[in-house]
Amino acid sequence: MSVKRITAAGVVFCMCLQLLCACGEKQAEGTDKICAGVAYYNQSDTFLNQLIDSLKEYLHDYEKEGYETTMLIRDAAGSQRTQNDQVKELIDAGCNVLCVNLVDRSDPSEIIDLARDNDVPIIFFNREPVAEDMLQWDRLYYVGAAAEQSGIMQGELAVELIRSRPQTDRNRDGKIQYVVLEGEAGHQDAIIRTENVVNTLKSNEIEIEKLSYGIANWNRAQAENRMLQMISQHQSKIELVLANNDDMALGAIDAYEKLNYTESALPLFLGIDGTREGLEAVIEGKLAGTVYNDKEGQAEAMAKIAVAAVSGEGMEKIEFDKDRCIYLPYFKVTKEMAEDMLREKDQP
Ligand code: BGC
Ligand code: CA
Repeated sequence: MSVKRITAAGVVFCMCLQLLCACGEKQAEGTDKICAGVAYYNQSDTFLNQLIDSLKEYLHDYEKEGYETTMLIRDAAGSQRTQNDQVKELIDAGCNVLCVNLVDRSDPSEIIDLARDNDVPIIFFNREPVAEDMLQWDRLYYVGAAAEQSGIMQGELAVELIRSRPQTDRNRDGKIQYVVLEGEAGHQDAIIRTENVVNTLKSNEIEIEKLSYGIANWNRAQAENRMLQMISQHQSKIELVLANNDDMALGAIDAYEKLNYTESALPLFLGIDGTREGLEAVIEGKLAGTVYNDKEGQAEAMAKIAVAAVSGEGMEKIEFDKDRCIYLPYFKVTKEMAEDMLREKDQP
């Protein structure tokens, strides 16, 4: 064996050893040793990184109640096949509960089979499996938020802003020319948010005209590119940018900054999430508003279900919205709230 191959084999062996040590032997049900395996679709996602940081904290808090907690995290880098392998690896490493953020929310069967064969419960989060898949096993849970509500709230924010700032209708034609930046095609939050924000504007009798839309997969850099294309097509006609999340709204703002638009020539930008960067942009007045996607609430619910599922205690006290699913409410963020929220987060 060449030196290179021996070294490579050594590295793989050490990685396996590390994994085994991380959670130790598979725990019997009813244990107070919680080893959570977290698998998520892509580590470049701002919202999910912040949600997982919060999950770490909530799970760790259970140590005060006498639990031992460990968390192993895997990034699927956008591949469902990679994620399936990672789930197997996490189960082999001794994880006794899984938190899975699917890459392809319509394709969870392999993961469900693996978990069921090893009797490891799964808490899906943020990317919702379809209802039939949730029925495949009674140790499957889902934690997320009600997408419809976020679209309605984004629409209400837009209505309030348009009514209070007549200058939004820059060409004074009585209509608001808008574009939409959409998340991944097929993601429950993308389709439903877009539908509901537009319907809310219409039902409030705001005359709107759609100029264009771009799919930017939740991503700031992709949104900047899509926005640059739309600006080159429509120049200063765009009066409102509705983004399915904050990162894409920020990408749109980046595009206008790159082109040196003056403030009075800028459209209104609206996001969803209230990520740290989103809240900062609301405080600076760059982002006209956002809707809070309660990642702390979601992380707290996930930690609670994880502990109950592993320890066998307390599941009956958890309030599910429908069978084994929890949807945390959204709320609208004003500038004053954004300031308070960041201050609170920065407190040690
Ligand atoms: C969030 C997005 C995020 C996506 C990932 C959505 O609920 O609003 O920011 O990129 O989930 O699945
Ligand atoms: Ca107009």
